[in-house]
Amino acid sequence: MNETKKNKADSWYWKAEKKASNYFKLLQKQALEKTYVTKLTKDIQSWRKFHIHPPFISLFSSKKGYSDYQDYIRWLDSKGKLDQYLDRSISYIYMRDLGKALHSKETQERIQSIVDALKSHLLNNQVNSNETFNLARLYRFTEREGIESTLIWVMNKLRKVTTHFPKEMDALHAERKLIKIIAGVFMHQWEEMDNHISPQERTKKLDRAIRLGYSYGLTYPFIDDLLDAKILTSKEESQYTEMIRTTLISGTVPNLGVWTGKNKEFIQFIHAELRQAFEYIKSQQPKEAQEQFFEQAYVFFRSQEMDRNKDLSNANYTNEELYVPIILKSSFSRLIARSVISAPEDVGFDERTFYYGIYNQLADDFTDIFEDLEKGAVTPYTYYLKYHKRRNDLVNPFELYWTVISYLIHDVYHSDTKTREVILDRAINSQKRFKEKWGTKKYKEIMEIFTTNNLKFQGQLQRIVQKAKDVDFFDKLLRDLIIDSLNIEQKEQENFQNTIKHVRTQINKNLLIKKMNSDSLINDKIIDAANYTLEGDGKRLRPILTWVMGVHGFGLKGTDIMPLLQSLEYMHTASLIFDDLPSQDNASIRRGRPTLHKVYNNAIAELTGLFLIQKAIIEQTNLKTFDAKTILQLIQYSAQMTAEMCRGQAMDLDAKGKSLSLEQLKVMSYYKTGKAFEASLIVPAILAHAEESEMKAIKKYAQHAGIAFQIKDDLLDVEGVQKTLGKPIGKDAENDNSTFVSVLGMEGARKAMWEEYCLAIEALQEVSRNLSFFKQFLNYIVHRDH
Ligand code: IPE
Ligand code: IPE
Ligand code: MG
Ligand code: MG
Ligand code: MG
Repeated sequence: MNETKKNKADSWYWKAEKKASNYFKLLQKQALEKTYVTKLTKDIQSWRKFHIHPPFISLFSSKKGYSDYQDYIRWLDSKGKLDQYLDRSISYIYMRDLGKALHSKETQERIQSIVDALKSHLLNNQVNSNETFNLARLYRFTEREGIESTLIWVMNKLRKVTTHFPKEMDALHAERKLIKIIAGVFMHQWEEMDNHISPQERTKKLDRAIRLGYSYGLTYPFIDDLLDAKILTSKEESQYTEMIRTTLISGTVPNLGVWTGKNKEFIQFIHAELRQAFEYIKSQQPKEAQEQFFEQAYVFFRSQEMDRNKDLSNANYTNEELYVPIILKSSFSRLIARSVISAPEDVGFDERTFYYGIYNQLADDFTDIFEDLEKGAVTPYTYYLKYHKRRNDLVNPFELYWTVISYLIHDVYHSDTKTREVILDRAINSQKRFKEKWGTKKYKEIMEIFTTNNLKFQGQLQRIVQKAKDVDFFDKLLRDLIIDSLNIEQKEQENFQNTIKHVRTQINKNLLIKKMNSDSLINDKIIDAANYTLEGDGKRLRPILTWVMGVHGFGLKGTDIMPLLQSLEYMHTASLIFDDLPSQDNASIRRGRPTLHKVYNNAIAELTGLFLIQKAIIEQTNLKTFDAKTILQLIQYSAQMTAEMCRGQAMDLDAKGKSLSLEQLKVMSYYKTGKAFEASLIVPAILAHAEESEMKAIKKYAQHAGIAFQIKDDLLDVEGVQKTLGKPIGKDAENDNSTFVSVLGMEGARKAMWEEYCLAIEALQEVSRNLSFFKQFLNYIVHRDH
């Protein structure tokens, strides 16, 4: 690599290192001289007036026993504490994530308006308490901002990336961090825009922020977490880090070069993704900002590397070696979150952020102390625990933590009252959380080690930790909620997959048509033909829906409704046989094999279609455990649906070469595709005598899910892979069909699909059964590749 560039990078680092080292010396001095003690003691005196109540008040304000966060929010509100709670939380985020100074009038006004909006949102939106994270609501928000395509893009990226996380990595937290970074960069952009900006410009900037956030955020799982997880061999690791270094120094991603072994495919994937991300960031930086960005990224990377390569068995690290990389990595990661959007220079922001980082890092490391000990990771705390008896020169990290707090309050934020309030709230809160998590006994043990050299101050602190009220934060609540909902999401997905697999196996066992031996002279070609198509690799979605709705939703017995499942798959298979005929779509592959009319001939295919439709009705009459009147109603309903599918198919064929309107397209898809989904969900409801109102909600869900399914089918006809899909690609264009893609284009079709997704989710709120399965079914529809 170019020597001058290398030297330049070294000088970037040295400059930053020098600044961090000066900062560290200053802190160390304040810690030694104990100036922080006098200052903080006074701060805490004033602070405690608002947080330590006489015992009789606390009797009435225990927040224990709240089953969900909405109850908690309402409780806060009823006690008149909600404003304070939100104010402290938003203020904290403005300080930590946005690097703002709280005494500024402008910032105060911003915070106030966000607090107001958030409060009314929290109190007025009745959210179903067991509802997990609501994607539809997020989509609606992006629609209002004109960035729904960006959301679709980033969701697809997240999906792709998370499926590539190796199992040694904590996928859940990696995803959470990535989401957090995207949100952080987005917030910076949000804050940078004033009210005069045009809507187009606004959309453009927000779109860019999300893409930049993702691009930058990708470095967390794929650089830091990956290297932390020790997945690579040491040779691979140095090859990999060298590649990153070269990228940051030269401004270009080098080719991957030779890579062998079991990590090859994974690294190829990461390399391609990171390269794309890097190129995007680079393309979005104006020339004059590029250098600063590379500088910050390089310092961030190198300090992380220094920090990561420490070894707990090495007894000889100096204090500087321990703390300087931490000061750097924690502050530069945040500096980048703003500089990546090329926000205008803000010296105040840079300075505050530089000093702030270590506070956060020390708080986080304290929280993780036992996990880190177990992993053998070097943090100031684990190192101190291991060596403090042998090395009395070691800085006590807990003491340094309080020193930083005092330094921030007085030297960085000029003793501003609000800042003092918020920082102390936060610090006391993390002590409380720690104590709650590990229990009083463990907390005491740890405290004895870390507080020996300042018993009086620490004693006072611990009494406060014991009694302090009103130090909770909304972002902590949100963090817990996000983790919960990612967890739930994962479980739901697993359940969904398992159910699908289980039911599909049941259906496949019962699907083939037996030969009737009644008349030995007839050759049963038609049964062979029907079975030929049935044996193909169909997804069996329609009978699966019926099974879930029937068995889980309405408590029907699986064996009782088996004929119904057969019936639905026969009907659907018939529709595919007709659809593939030369007179319709003229397709040569279906379910991974040549189409029926290719193997036999058109006439046999037509007859088989008819045959299967009749078989479908016969199976309905085999529903022996239900009364005749109900069955009659069911047959009438399902025959009606089949008739409507025919109308849909006719409309589809008639539209060849024409451009339908969006409304017409929706109607056509509802008829040709949606009706079958509707039938699958309604027939079990008929058998169970469901209420009319519920039927209505189910129909609405099915209609939108069905249209979404067809839109995805149209998209896959362009971007799918024949082998995976089991049917030919490009058929629609070849036939000059009028599809969502031909009318709206790929991007427009994607948006239309998500629109239907949202409508279906919204309809689901009125269906009370099997919410998670049907929600996951929608996720499956929009993400499927088969
Ligand atoms: C294909 O349906 C026909 C459409 C409605 C788009 P599927 O995609 O469910 O087909 P199989 O049953 O899995 O083959
Ligand atoms: C067909 O739609 C809908 C039916 C009910 C048969 P398509 O013609 O797009 O289905 P594929 O792509 O051939 O499966
Ligand atoms: Mg068709
Ligand atoms: Mg077709
Ligand atoms: Mg199609």
